[in-house]
Amino acid sequence: MAKVKVGPGPYLYPMPVVLVGAQVKGRPNYLTVAFAGIVNLQPAIIALGLGRKHYTNLGIKKNKTFSVNIPSPKLVKATDFCGIYSGHRVDKSGVFKSFYGKLKTAPMIEECAVNLECRLVRIIPLEADELVLGEIMEVYVDKKCLTRGAPDVRKIKPMVFTVPDNRYWALGKAVGPAWKIGKTFSGKHK
Ligand SMILES: Cc1cc2nc3c(=O)[nH]c(=O)nc-3n(C[C@H](O)[C@H](O)[C@H](O)COP(=O)(O)O)c2cc1C
Repeated sequence: MAKVKVGPGPYLYPMPVVLVGAQVKGRPNYLTVAFAGIVNLQPAIIALGLGRKHYTNLGIKKNKTFSVNIPSPKLVKATDFCGIYSGHRVDKSGVFKSFYGKLKTAPMIEECAVNLECRLVRIIPLEADELVLGEIMEVYVDKKCLTRGAPDVRKIKPMVFTVPDNRYWALGKAVGPAWKIGKTFSGKHK
C-alpha cells in the first residue's frame, strides 16, 4: 500500500467536540475542546488537553471543578463561538443557559443533552498545554435523549471534529455491536 508521510500532528480521527465549563470570577465560562477522552473506567476519569493561558483554566484551578458538555449540530454556531473568543476578552456567560449540580461550582449547559460534572483530580503540565484530569462525579442527561432509561446516542447527536479541514461533522451509521461482532471474525489468527 502506498503511504505518504504527512508529518506529526493531531490526526486522530475523529475527535470529540465538547464544551468545557468553569466558574470564573463569579460567572460561567465555556470553551470548545477537541482534545478530550476517558482515561480511566472506575472511577470514571476524563482527560482534557487545555492551552494553559485559557480563561477557563482559571476557574478550574480555583474551584477544582469543571463540566464537560456535549453539543449537538443545532449548537454548532455557539460551540464555534466559544472556540474563537476567549473569556479574557468576551463575556461568554450568556451564550448558554447554565445550571449547577451537586458540586455547586461547575456550570453546566442546559441546551446540551449530556453534562458531565467533574472534580479536578490533577493537572499535569505538558510542553504547551496542560493535561487536566477530572473525575466524573455525576452525569446529567436530557430525559428526551433516553431510550428505555439509557442515554441514546441517536438522540444525543454528538458532533465530531476533523483536521486539517477544521470541520464539524454529525455522526454516521452504526456498523456493528462491540464485544460481539469480533466473535464472527474469520481472518488470520491462532
Ligand atoms: C473546534 C475547536 C476545538 C478546540 N479544541 C481545543 C482543545 O482541545 N484544547 C484547547 O485548549 N483549546 C481548544 N480550542 C480553542 C479554545 O476553545 C479557544 O482558544 C477558546 O477561545 C478559549 O476560551 P477561554 O479563554 O474562554 O477559556 C478549540 C477551538 C475550536 C474551534
